[in-house]
Amino acid sequence: MKTISEIRQITKEEPYQVVFVCLGNICRSPTGEGLFQHLVNERGLEHYFVIDSAGTAAYHVGEPANSKSRMIAKERGVELHSKARQFSPSDFGIFDLIIAMDKENKKNILALAGSDADKNKVMLMRDFDPKPGDGNVPDPYYGGLDGFVSVFDIVKRSCASLLDQLQPHIK
Ligand code: 4NP
Repeated sequence: MKTISEIRQITKEEPYQVVFVCLGNICRSPTGEGLFQHLVNERGLEHYFVIDSAGTAAYHVGEPANSKSRMIAKERGVELHSKARQFSPSDFGIFDLIIAMDKENKKNILALAGSDADKNKVMLMRDFDPKPGDGNVPDPYYGGLDGFVSVFDIVKRSCASLLDQLQPHIK
């Protein structure tokens, strides 16, 4: 597992801002956004985080999360409230941490970075996975329900270990 290089002090006045990024912003990154928010709420930390998601592509801008993603999450007690938007270079100025769902999306995000400081904000979801596999959260879009369940399980354990890293920095 990888660790975030420098984590600033997290306060209510300056909440830590995290954006999850996949290709379409309708399956994997909405699951990241919803699950991370759920874990933050469960731990009573909702005042310390701002959580969002985006896609590197614009195909689905304005759409809610995929119905299968929403169903699998809802069955497990998690609501997905995203509305798809495209990742923008201006996001580098807003977010502390940019989490790519796979290596291809990470590459496309890095191509938009304006500085080394921007680049250092980008990590993979599976950098936080105790069982990181090949580093990618597999794209479930063209497959069956089992793929959506797998995305949920991978993202859940990765988000839990991400929050474990950040929580000690809350003041
Ligand atoms: P996501 O899944 O990147 O997890 O939201 C996809 C959604 C749409 C497409 C591909 C992947 N698409 O090709 O439209």
